[in-house]
Amino acid sequence: MNQDEMKQAVARAAIEYVVPGTIIGVGTGSTANCFIDELAKIKGKIEGTVASSVASAERLKGHGIPVFDLNAVDGISVYIDGADETNKHLHLVKGGGGALTREKIVAAASDKFVCIADESKLVDRLGKFPLPVEVIPMARSLVAREIIKKIGGEPVLREGFTTDNGNIILDIHNLDIMEPVKTEEILNGITGVVTNGLFAIKPANILLLGCQDGVRTLE
Ligand code: A5P
Repeated sequence: MNQDEMKQAVARAAIEYVVPGTIIGVGTGSTANCFIDELAKIKGKIEGTVASSVASAERLKGHGIPVFDLNAVDGISVYIDGADETNKHLHLVKGGGGALTREKIVAAASDKFVCIADESKLVDRLGKFPLPVEVIPMARSLVAREIIKKIGGEPVLREGFTTDNGNIILDIHNLDIMEPVKTEEILNGITGVVTNGLFAIKPANILLLGCQDGVRTLE
């Protein structure tokens, strides 16, 4: 299987985790897009979705799948989304598409998080992929200085990008994340940070990993 076929395979496998008659949380990115296309085939079986980005909401609506505001639903049975990196503990780096804040909110509101990714995303140690941090624009310089002081690395402004929430992204390059939970906590504690792209305090519950010879399930 090539990378695209792996993304399609994990998207198909994720359909097994869709709970009929409930609200499904839907993530953002090319793998999540494959999942949306699969979900369209069984759209009559679910009540609807909550999307983690404007782009995913548009794709869902394009398929005629109901999209609800998170405040309008009582709960989400399962959240299905991709990742930029994962380790074997299912700690993730997310936010390559810039949707990390809404992704973390929808994941937090869900009973279960099923991550779907191709094998290129599995790493021994997180940090090769620059870690996205969503920041209130006026705090950009302050947050960059604090990041260097507290965890190191090289924060770089994502040029020409504004999040769905009207904020900027600093991508932290050259990190070697030995303790993902601790790093997530430190970043959460910096004033001006909205969200960081580490999902380690609350990791994924299940990882469906697309490999050359099929889909592996890690939990
Ligand atoms: C979006 O902000 C990200 O968290 C995505 O989940 C991540 O970038 C994965 O995207 P792909 O499925 O396109 O690799």
